[in-house]
Amino acid sequence: MNINLTNKVALVTGASRGIGRAAAIRLAEAGADVIVNYVTSRNLAEDTANEIMNLGRRTWVIKADVSEKEDVDMMFDFIKTEIGRLNILVSNAATGGFRPLLAASNKNFDAAFHTNVLALLYLVQSSMPLLEKETTRGKIITISSHGAIAGLPMYGLVGASKAALESLVRHLTLEIGDKGVNINVVRAGLVATDSSRRLPNAEKLFNDQINFTQVGERILQPEDVADTILFLASSLSDMIQGETITIDGGAAIRGA
Ligand SMILES: NC(=O)c1ccc[n+]([C@@H]2O[C@H](COP(=O)([O-])OP(=O)(O)OC[C@H]3O[C@@H](n4cnc5c(N)ncnc54)[C@H](OP(=O)(O)O)[C@@H]3O)[C@@H](O)[C@H]2O)c1
Repeated sequence: MNINLTNKVALVTGASRGIGRAAAIRLAEAGADVIVNYVTSRNLAEDTANEIMNLGRRTWVIKADVSEKEDVDMMFDFIKTEIGRLNILVSNAATGGFRPLLAASNKNFDAAFHTNVLALLYLVQSSMPLLEKETTRGKIITISSHGAIAGLPMYGLVGASKAALESLVRHLTLEIGDKGVNINVVRAGLVATDSSRRLPNAEKLFNDQINFTQVGERILQPEDVADTILFLASSLSDMIQGETITIDGGAAIRGA
């Protein structure tokens, strides 16, 4: 059975770069029309949209800071009036903010938790009226990392925010599962993107992945994560609910 998302509308937050961009293109390849959200990189967001258009799909580019409720409200005003439908929400956008916890300020904490956790709540609250209206199950997917369950250097704020995100998803499941919507988490291993390149010792971490992953000489790419997102966005995952699925080529087996 092939995944066919023809006539579905997907919103991908943070689709200008990295995993979000790969997910937006993968969903479009499967037939979906895709709303490309970004906050600063207009040109890169337009590039993603151009690729989607070249695949013959409809696309819209919307600037919105997902950590700001007013921005999310504005984005959904546009979706409701101009598109009128939504089937898939990929809450992907996140902020890095890699620093020691002992040096973290309230402002740093708020920035990490507003973008990485609270944004999901805003997005789910705004998208539910649209997702619920559809005849097929709505799909919400968000992205976590190993920092949710492990201690990683300089990753305390992001890791704690991802742990909160995974918990939020489990609790949201109780409220939205019976309303025709699936919500799940993709917990991705290390992928070389703009944000992970800012990790201290990034090059060494990327090189180490070749040894940690258990799939031969192959490391995780944004497209691999996008494939898991695609599966969770499809009807093949209708019975997967409130779960966290790890995609890391087996690195977690080695404690990475
Ligand atoms: N890379 C990894 O190794 C890795 C591993 C596990 C999990 N993840 C997770 O995967 C997701 C994507 O990560 P990535 O590495 O692909 O990130 P990335 O390359 O740094 O891209 C971040 C994206 O999020 C957008 N963004 C950031 N803050 C935003 C905000 N407040 N409102 C709207 N958009 C915002 C950026 O938009 P602009 O371009 O407009 O700034 C950009 O499109 C994140 O949730 C991350 O935590 C990443």
